[in-house]
Parts: sequence; structure tokens; C-alpha cells
Amino acid sequence: MKKLWGGRFEGATDKLVESFSESVSFDARLAPWDIRGSIAHARMLGAQGIIRAADAKKIIAGLKVIAKEIEDGTFVFDPALEDVHMNIESALTERIGDAGKRLHTGRSRNDQVALDVRLWTRDQVDAVGDELRDLQRALADFAEAHMDVILPGMTHLQHAQPVLLAHHYLAYFEMFGRDRERFAELRKRVNVLPLGSAALAGTTYPIDRDQVAKELGFDAVSRNSMDAVSDRDYLIEFCSAASIAMMHLSRLSEELVLWSSSAFGYVEIGDAFTTGSSIMPQKKNPDVAELVRGKVGRVYGDLTALLTLMKGLPLTYNRDMQEDKEPVFDAADTLRVCLRVVARMIPSIRVNRKRMAAAASEGFLEATDVADYLVGKGLPFREAHEITGKLVLYCAKNQRRLPELSLDEFRSFSGLFGSDLRAQLTPQSIVSRRNTFGGTAPSRVRHALRQARRALK
Ligand code: ARG
Repeated sequence: MKKLWGGRFEGATDKLVESFSESVSFDARLAPWDIRGSIAHARMLGAQGIIRAADAKKIIAGLKVIAKEIEDGTFVFDPALEDVHMNIESALTERIGDAGKRLHTGRSRNDQVALDVRLWTRDQVDAVGDELRDLQRALADFAEAHMDVILPGMTHLQHAQPVLLAHHYLAYFEMFGRDRERFAELRKRVNVLPLGSAALAGTTYPIDRDQVAKELGFDAVSRNSMDAVSDRDYLIEFCSAASIAMMHLSRLSEELVLWSSSAFGYVEIGDAFTTGSSIMPQKKNPDVAELVRGKVGRVYGDLTALLTLMKGLPLTYNRDMQEDKEPVFDAADTLRVCLRVVARMIPSIRVNRKRMAAAASEGFLEATDVADYLVGKGLPFREAHEITGKLVLYCAKNQRRLPELSLDEFRSFSGLFGSDLRAQLTPQSIVSRRNTFGGTAPSRVRHALRQARRALK
């Protein structure tokens, strides 16, 4: 296969070098974006009179044919042509003749690849945004369906205070909401046209970058040609936002693994999202949640790969940068499949209300409220804390629970305890009285749910 850059060379490329340096095996997936970019470039070249209008027309028609072939899977990519860009350009000339040789006027693969990857990333960002929203919807639906369920909220994985299960799941709603914001934010920096920077210095042709930007839906045109072909910040940002979203998915997954364990028994994940054991017939394992937890490592790895790749690279383009694609493709693919699978798994979760209720009566979840009761009777909080601590110690030593103690027993620790205490120690009462903004009181959680629905519109 004749190289598009072959003029300066006398010898052939080493076969090993050919397979070592090719990128088409992984960048072929950029073809639809590469073709869109080339069509916009050709149209602009024609409109500016840089190439003949008839040639521009031929190029555009030819590129559309190639796009169709790629879509149908009949197009054959040749590794000897290095990358997606040269495969398409060479196929174009094969199809339409000499007009195809004019497409690369006023452009370089350096701004071309930057363009393709920006267009691809923009579409990924939009798709991730939709998938994050679908996941948030699943979380809101789950919260709404379990408004009456109380479980022990935990710190240090120790029972702390009772909370609504809905409140717990709306916490994840918030996290994925911030993830959506992060992607929307970085989209602005992705959506800048690099084409027209040519190799690094701009071009001598009277190109119209604004026209190309407009056709391709870019909000802005890059201000510095050297920056435009060197910059991969937007991919690092993408992988960084993906890493944070994956971290959130991993926390949610870890809890599902814990909650579905025999020790917790809070939930059962649906059959469609669990798998069995080849030896132990009783097993129903939370493999999907575990895999999501595990895949976080890949995305962190992708981010680290990109940061390390770009560190210390002199301006402008260096071939090292070809190594940016596999990590960012992997990060996008991994994040997106994880978002989809978790959004589908959530409605399959069956909650064991009994186990959660039983758990909510263990571990002295009422202790803070006992102390708050004493504060209500005028005691400074620090003293109330001390007295309640002694009560808990007494219960722990005698294997009693706080709500079981008689009023006399309470009063032996403080004369301030009265008959109104016990009513305040039920999980329902404890939860309802936490009605500060952002708290777990049902009224607040219902409000949060309404806000959540609004955010999903
Ligand atoms: N395949 C290359 C990459 O992904 C395209 C740009 C090549 N530019 C160059 N000057 N060799 O980075």
C-alpha cells in the first residue's frame, strides 16, 4: 500500500514498525467523526475557493459513500495505512480520483485527530449525561418506593442513627447530580474547534474556521494553533470526571455487596443481576456489583495513563499522543456500561424490611436522642453526652437496649428523665425529629424527592 507521506522515503517501512505504529486497529472507531470533520473541511475549502466547488462536491459525496460502507461493515481498514485518517483519505482517492487528493489542503493529521477526538468526546459526554440521568431516575424511583423504610445509618460501618432508606439513596442521587455537572462543565472546554491549526502554526490558505465551527456545532474556535494540536487536557478531564463517577458507582456497589451478604441480609438483588456458584448450590452472588466495584480500577488506570503520557511532552504534537486513545475509549466504555447496568439493577433490589427494622433497634441508635432529651431539659450537651454514655455502658454490660429500660432505671442516671422520654426513642420519632434542611425527616425527604424530580426534567 502506497504511503500518503511516501515522497521523502526511499526505503520501505519495517514490517514490525508498521504493526508497532499503526493505530487503525483502535482508532477506526473514530471514522464517523473523521468523516463529518472532513465533510465540513471540504465544504469550507470549496466555499473559500481554495479548491474547486465541483471537487468539494465530489469529495463530500465520496466521503458519504465511505461512511455508508463503514456503517455496513464492508469497508476494509488497512494497517499499512497507519490510522483511520489515512485509510479514509486513501479510500476517497481510490473512489473519486484526483479530487480526493485535494481534501488535505490546509490541514494536518495533527489538527484532524484533535478534531475527531473532540467530536467523539462531545458525543460521549452527552451520552454519559443521559445515562447519569437515567441512573438518578432509578435512584429516585427506588427512594420513592421505600419512603417508609428505616435502617441504621452508619459511620465507621457502625450503627449511628436511624435514617430513611430513601434518604440514603437520595444521597447517591446528589453524587450523580454533581457528576452530571462535572461533565456539563468540561463539555464547554471540549467544544472548541482545533481544525485550522494545521500541523502547528496555522496555514497559508484563506480558510474560514468559523464556518467549520458552525457546521460542526462548536461554540468556539481555538485561539492558539500550537496549543490546539498539543492539548489533551479535555481527555484528562473526561477521565477524571469518569473516575469520580466510577468511585460513586463503586461505593453504591460495595454497599449492595455488604447489604446482600448473609451478615446484613438487608436486600436481595434480582436474579437477573446475580450469578450462582459452580460448586455451592445455595449461592447467589452479587457479581454485577462486584464487577462495577472492580472496574473502577481500570478507569483510574486510564486517568493515570493519560496524565503520565502527557507529562513532560514538548510542544506540539508528538507521536506519544497516539497512546491517548485506548485509555479514553476504555474509560468511556467502562463508565457507560457500568452506569447502564447499575441503573437496571436498582429496580431489581428487594428490600428485607424486617431485617432493616431489626437492625435499626440494635446498636444504641437512640443514644444521641437520649442526650438531646436531657439538653431539652436544660442540661449542657457535654454533660448530657457523659450521662448517656454511662447509660449505654450500663445497657452493654447488662445486654439491654435503651428503649427497654424502665423510667426508674433512666432516673437513676438523671432526675431529668421523664415519662415523655420513651415516645421519643422509636426509630420513627428519631427520624421525624431530624427535620433540618437536608435532614432525614420524612417531610424533608419528600421535599428532596420533589426537588429530585424537578432536576430530572
Ligand atoms: N494516528 C495519529 C494519532 O493518533 C494521528 C496523528 C498523526 N500525526 C503525525 N504527525 N504523525 O496521534
